[in-house]
Amino acid sequence: MTYLKFPEEAREAAAANQFDSPAVRAFRHDVLTSTDWVEHGLAIIDGIPVADPLVGGEYAKAVSSSLGSLLPQDGAGAQIREVRYRGLKLGEGATGRYSDSREGGQFHTDGPHRPNDAPDWFALLCIRQAAVGGGLILILTEDLIKRLDPDTVAVLEEPFLFDQREDGTAPVSRPILAHQPSGRWHVNYLREYIELGHRHPLGQPLTDRQAAALDAFDAQIAEAVAAPNRIEVKLAPGQMAVIDNRRLLHGRTTFGDDPQDRDRLMLRTWVRELVPVESAAGAAPTAGFASDR
Ligand SMILES: [Fe+2]
Repeated sequence: MTYLKFPEEAREAAAANQFDSPAVRAFRHDVLTSTDWVEHGLAIIDGIPVADPLVGGEYAKAVSSSLGSLLPQDGAGAQIREVRYRGLKLGEGATGRYSDSREGGQFHTDGPHRPNDAPDWFALLCIRQAAVGGGLILILTEDLIKRLDPDTVAVLEEPFLFDQREDGTAPVSRPILAHQPSGRWHVNYLREYIELGHRHPLGQPLTDRQAAALDAFDAQIAEAVAAPNRIEVKLAPGQMAVIDNRRLLHGRTTFGDDPQDRDRLMLRTWVRELVPVESAAGAAPTAGFASDR
């Protein structure tokens, strides 16, 4: 794993909304052409000051908006979400989320329940880590698909319902697996939100073949998690992981079994990839990017 730096010149330019500055462009290029990013959809930036979480949050926004467009993470438009134990379990009540809990497992992508597109990437900046557990485990979807039978893949390419985790909203309908023109597969997944979506008063129950396909998918995920070559990263304070949310499922190892060790805090951002102008407009290549910042 190679650790990247966020140069001070890039931070200053990003703070001034100068996202086309040479320093920001060089940083973006370094991240997106790094071997870890190209092969595994993961980049880690270290050396971010986090003694003051508010300063850490400004860095998290600057790094994320240097790479793409920051997305809101809730109905109120928050660009930073604190991922920490809030005494909740995943799926608890009307709004309990994975990011409020401390248990491991439940491999997922972030924001599969967003009403528009899920985030392309997400980033986690470690402010405080747990002494035990709290590691991030990443599973490449293309490795799972190689081991699934074609019938299961076909079912997973059909729409499923995802509970939005907001009171008074209808479930979102989208496929779990989507084959891209590039040949890559994109994934949207969080089993508990799918179960909740299909039990929602505005949803329909899962069919037997949908439930069987989910079980087969979960079985392959469990095998990948148990494999010795799984990707596992335990971020240290000041380290920020940027993760390709379309190619990878992620989960963590359980933390906080010891009540004294529940203070883990990550700051999360959701990011939309910048689309090169030439592919957005179908025009001749230029140096710029289309963006919805
Ligand atoms: Fe997540």
